[in-house]
Amino acid sequence: MSTIGIALVGCGGISLQNHLPGLALCPDTKVVALCDADAKTLERAKAQTGVQVGSTDYREVVGRDDVQAVIIATPNFTHAPIAHGAIAAGKHVFCEKPIAMNFAEARDMFIAAEKAGVRHMTAFTYRFVPAMRYFKHLIGQGAIGQPYHYRSCRLQDWGTRSIGWRQVQKLAGTGEMGDMLSHRIDYAHHLVGEMSRIVAGTKRIHDVRDGQPSDLEDWATILAEFKVGASGVLESSKVATGRGEGAFSQDYVEINGAEGSIVFQLEQPHQLQVTRKGEKSLRSVPVPREFLVWGKSTRNPAQGDPNFSFRYDQNFEFIDSIRNQRACQPSFFDGALAQRIMDSAAQSSAEGQWIDVSNASNELKQKS
Ligand SMILES: NC(=O)c1ccc[n+]([C@@H]2O[C@H](COP(=O)([O-])OP(=O)(O)OC[C@H]3O[C@@H](n4cnc5c(N)ncnc54)[C@H](O)[C@@H]3O)[C@@H](O)[C@H]2O)c1
Repeated sequence: MSTIGIALVGCGGISLQNHLPGLALCPDTKVVALCDADAKTLERAKAQTGVQVGSTDYREVVGRDDVQAVIIATPNFTHAPIAHGAIAAGKHVFCEKPIAMNFAEARDMFIAAEKAGVRHMTAFTYRFVPAMRYFKHLIGQGAIGQPYHYRSCRLQDWGTRSIGWRQVQKLAGTGEMGDMLSHRIDYAHHLVGEMSRIVAGTKRIHDVRDGQPSDLEDWATILAEFKVGASGVLESSKVATGRGEGAFSQDYVEINGAEGSIVFQLEQPHQLQVTRKGEKSLRSVPVPREFLVWGKSTRNPAQGDPNFSFRYDQNFEFIDSIRNQRACQPSFFDGALAQRIMDSAAQSSAEGQWIDVSNASNELKQKS
């Protein structure tokens, strides 16, 4: 197949940190057009990439003939309109998480992409951590047997600094829930399966961040029951004082099953902690070489910082799925399923009661 042309919509933090280096590793793939609503950011991205085609209006780039695929890396409230614009123009779409402001929007994006026959992908980046891939493999092999408990904990300290659009409900939809917990909801779906019911709590600690009002939660937690009978506890905070930020702060997942337990920590991307029935403590297990990169990714796992370089494999997955005309993993289906849980968590937090989520995937399948 000839070169795949990409339009990058949104040229802020995540585009420059993840998508550009990720796309650079993909054979016969070229960023041909840029879009950012902010003219200065657009000019900076043009200078950095050497890509001369650009616009502050996504409609001027997504329909171009030399664009086959669109990456959406903008604030959450813009994802759905940009995705629909790209899908209507017949382009493949890779959208940042959370893919939408609510389940109805996410479901419509999934349905539109399926009907148009384009590839669709959700940026649940941490599925690409080698240790997470090996975790999934071990569970598939039955290493821990019947799962009893899923536990995830994401602790960061963002203090009271301004976090821009992320602290404004009409721009972000949710706070810590969509920003951080969404990935951990996806881990839960990926590793344990669908949930049957949940009860949730959210809390805003800071009403003002750096002089700007915040109307979104800094902390979110979900207590879950899974269809396979396991229980789950998911917690995520932006205000875990002294915990630091980013790849080296706490991102922990543990699953206990009838035959053993496995622990994942993001700061150790090439290692798991494992224990088996009869043992008394966890031991470190290195991730085998075949799990260090995703599929046929051309990335050399020995090069670069392993705490960041795994992120580039998600771009490889998107491009490879286009080239081989197969579904992406994770897709808009996964993005919408996580959104369904987030909507129910917000409802549960407001109403103070358990919510049945057992029909979530059927709601998606029936509509598509
Ligand atoms: N997958 C991950 O691990 C991960 C990590 C960080 C951010 N994200 C997601 O990526 C998205 C962007 O986050 P970010 O940190 O890069 O934000 P950012 O604020 O750094 O960048 C967003 C950019 O989008 C531009 N923009 C705003 N509205 C636009 C529009 N209508 N059209 C074109 N450009 C527009 C802004 O000017 C800005 O340059 C969010 O959805 C966020 O949740 C995902």
